Amino acid sequence: MSGHSHGDIDWADRLTQLRMADALDAEALAPVARRLLGLVGERPAVVDVGCGAGGMSVLLARELARRGGGTLVLFDATPKLLVEAERAVAEVAGESVEVVSLLGDLTDPALAVPAADLVWASGVVHHVGDQQAALRTLAGLLRPGGVLAISEGGLEMRCLPWELGVGRPGLEQRLHAARASWFEAMRAGIPGSVAMPYGWPRALREAGLQDVESFGALIDHPMPGSDLLREYVVQRVGWFAESAGEWLDADDRAATATLTDPQSPHFLGRRDDVYLFGAKAIHCGRLR
Ligand SMILES: C[S@@+](CC[C@H](N)C(=O)[O-])C[C@H]1O[C@@H](n2cnc3c(N)ncnc32)[C@H](O)[C@@H]1O
Repeated sequence: MSGHSHGDIDWADRLTQLRMADALDAEALAPVARRLLGLVGERPAVVDVGCGAGGMSVLLARELARRGGGTLVLFDATPKLLVEAERAVAEVAGESVEVVSLLGDLTDPALAVPAADLVWASGVVHHVGDQQAALRTLAGLLRPGGVLAISEGGLEMRCLPWELGVGRPGLEQRLHAARASWFEAMRAGIPGSVAMPYGWPRALREAGLQDVESFGALIDHPMPGSDLLREYVVQRVGWFAESAGEWLDADDRAATATLTDPQSPHFLGRRDDVYLFGAKAIHCGRLR
């Protein structure tokens, strides 16, 4: 796989937005890295599956270094993202953390990843046709006593005021609805896609894990926010309109085009009232 996942997303093309999201999520995810590494023993082996641009990998590496070291395996199917994750981790890992980089596909039957004490997989399992099988694969990477933690679901990020002075009020809600339709079509379009008609905690139990629990990480960047926040919001609205545009009506498509156009007086990138507010859900379980 060169960068397109099974849902035909060009992940390499998403690098800029992934990096921005990594920067904005870091404050909320640092305590998650701390909490998860608190569940495993000393000098653990940790695998970040679908590590993307390496946002969480960096936080895991920092926390490993703080705790006396260990091994961190970066695993992704997109070469360009893996290189970026390696670069980001190299800046923080220090000598006590051994970093291993693996290019591969989670669905590969010959998947070869070292045994792990902690497997982290954020936003990747839902891109695999058989999500339950993917969770079994991930659980199969664990040593006895090891923990699998996934970040899936949660509360969709909000970033826009209700009224924007262009188009109809409530655009963001309609963007989310369009995005849900896109998601449904994306899932249906993955070869070998099968339904998983139950929630993530149950799926972890079905994968053979015990002590399953879920918790949230709040992403909260209030207005007026930084230039990075504004840039991210512009990218995010543009990406929603691009990927889910066919589920928007003509007025909403025109509004999103205006809002993301730097030449427009309505350009989101110059507003002082955009924000980012939402929550990531983390689900984890242990192999006994
Ligand atoms: C939504 S991004 C998530 C990146 C990062 N984990 C995060 O939470 O920001 C999905 C990542 O999973 C990778 N990916 C998608 N399908 C994969 C597969 N079948 N095997 C391995 N990696 C995959 C993509 O290359 C991309 O880096």
